[in-house]
Amino acid sequence: MKYKRVLAVETSCDDTSVAIVKEDGLVEAMLSANQDDVHEPFGGVVPEIAGRSHSEKLIPLINKTLEQINYKWEDISGLVVTSRPGLVGSLIVGLVTVKTLAWTLQKNFIGINHIEGHIWAPFVFENEEEKVEIPSEFLSLIVSGGHTQLVHVTGVGQYKILGHTIDDAAGEAFDKFAKMMGLGYPGGYVIDQKAKLGNSNKYSFPRPMIRTSTLDFSFSGLKTAALKEISQLSMEEIKNITPDICASYQQAIVDVLVSKLKQAHEQFSNIPISVTGGVSANSLLRSEVAKWAHEKNLSYFFPKLKFCTDNAAMVGFAGIQKLKKGELSPQTLGPSPRSLPEDFSR
Ligand SMILES: Nc1ncnc2c1ncn2[C@@H]1O[C@H](COP(=O)(O)OP(=O)(O)OP(=O)(O)O)[C@@H](O)[C@H]1O
Ligand SMILES: [Mg+2]
Repeated sequence: MKYKRVLAVETSCDDTSVAIVKEDGLVEAMLSANQDDVHEPFGGVVPEIAGRSHSEKLIPLINKTLEQINYKWEDISGLVVTSRPGLVGSLIVGLVTVKTLAWTLQKNFIGINHIEGHIWAPFVFENEEEKVEIPSEFLSLIVSGGHTQLVHVTGVGQYKILGHTIDDAAGEAFDKFAKMMGLGYPGGYVIDQKAKLGNSNKYSFPRPMIRTSTLDFSFSGLKTAALKEISQLSMEEIKNITPDICASYQQAIVDVLVSKLKQAHEQFSNIPISVTGGVSANSLLRSEVAKWAHEKNLSYFFPKLKFCTDNAAMVGFAGIQKLKKGELSPQTLGPSPRSLPEDFSR
């Protein structure tokens, strides 16, 4: 079946996002509203507040996105929505809205796994110069607020998980550290900025599981080590060491990520790599992966910064590719807090 463009909705956590995406990944419009200000005082996302905020914002955002490029519903060939994993109270707002639109407008829709969306984020684009050829297979390192996974991708809906975190995700490690340092929420961006002014050799943090033969990750010990360093310090003293401790902590996370990516890559011959998810915005991670890829003459892909964290464009691109293959979701589709570990596509 032909799908020229879809309207996609992402409400899995605390970002409300709507995008209109064409079949080749061109993002014709995307509007997002984040809720950082309302969650910041709590040091993390409050599920109840997140759900309510989506329900206030979503319909106006859908209307604005259509108006922005003067499209009517006749111009939209199908609908896509994130259906898992995430906060159920957040997911349900997007899901019920999209199912209602699909029903009343008589359009097909598909529910997409949010992590599958992250996999396709490096390949969405806003103008022709940004368009890249999508490799037939690639190794994807997904590093987000809730996930850290290495996945071998051989096509749309064809994923093999090679390794994942056994405790905290990389983004969570950044956020928890930022919270204990009094740097606000979410913390990855701030740590990235502070680290630029610091010495990464000043503190010696562990590199958990860096020498294990598996491709799994662990970040909870790192957080405990950081807590030990600062637990005896006053706020003033913490402030003074912030650049150095941020640089050292960030270096430990990046060392583990890059090392596991290299280890996974050894299983394949010259396969292209991609790094995606919120933490793929990290400047040190980007430069270290790019340096290694250049040395090895590998093709590598990162999402544009606005497509690293949650956005509807990546979900729309994953969805339209599946709709084109004839996949659809039923009106009975419900939200789920979890991914099926072996299957992104359900
Ligand atoms: N420059 C940066 N350096 C490191 N981490 C960053 C940077 N920018 C954002 N992050 C981190 O990215 C994470 C958010 O990413 P994302 O929106 O993909 O996660 P999520 O949607 O909350 O989780 P998931 O996708 O696993 O459900 C946060 O943990 C944030 O601190
Ligand atoms: Mg995400």
